[in-house]
Amino acid sequence: MSSAQEPITAPKFTAMKAAGERITMVTAYDFPTAALVDSAGVDGILVGDSVGMVVQGHATTLPVTLDQMIYHAEMVGRAVQHALVIVDMPFPTYHLGAQRAIEAAGRILKETRCQAVKLEGGADQAAVIAGLVSAGIPVMAHCGLRPQSVHQMGGYGVQRDRERLVADAVAAEEAGAFAVVLECIPADVAREITASLRIPTIGIGAGLDCDGQVLVLHDMLGLTSGRVPRHVKAYADLKQPFVAAIAQYRSEVRSRTFPGPDQTFR
Ligand code: KIV
Repeated sequence: MSSAQEPITAPKFTAMKAAGERITMVTAYDFPTAALVDSAGVDGILVGDSVGMVVQGHATTLPVTLDQMIYHAEMVGRAVQHALVIVDMPFPTYHLGAQRAIEAAGRILKETRCQAVKLEGGADQAAVIAGLVSAGIPVMAHCGLRPQSVHQMGGYGVQRDRERLVADAVAAEEAGAFAVVLECIPADVAREITASLRIPTIGIGAGLDCDGQVLVLHDMLGLTSGRVPRHVKAYADLKQPFVAAIAQYRSEVRSRTFPGPDQTFR
């Protein structure tokens, strides 16, 4: 693990790959959870547009707006001391060309303390990635399953078009991306991409051979209601103690045992 004092930068991600150090990333969307995630020593915190699904309760990430991403990223940016904070560009803030993308990403960097943006795409977004990079904005690309294209892809299934997956990741690197997320692709394709790129691959449902991994916080802590994707490992089940604590509080209010002497002023 990198030292807790040393802030992680985008170039550090590349250096970690070169040194064979695995990169750990988790999502966060607010001040207290971002501070806890950062204190666990992760390298990157993603303010993902998954906020639309795990916090806002939408069925897709599509309703999330730029103002909402900035609202969440500003809280996360203030909480984090160590990790690199990457903010998702929501749909369709980068689909209308590099200039519009620079305006949107510029707002993200100016109005939050976050250091990088992520966008979904590879070869199709190469010009936009290059434009953002030329404006000094570090870009993480996101290839494979692209949740903002769920309607075009027909669902959240595993992406198996090897040629396209490789071409997208290579195009993202050539356009100047500092890292690429590989979501829901076969492990052997992820291994091939990882071996052919200088920049790190960050897997989510892409096997063990990526340079790093990212998970959605609510999924890994057992806080997501409804179906959790197969690639998620639940490292905790916080739903149960969460509900139990509130049920105990309710019971103590009803039985007149809360507030007790310790919580009462005299
Ligand atoms: O929005 C998000 O949380 C993401 C991860 C699934 C990589 O893009």
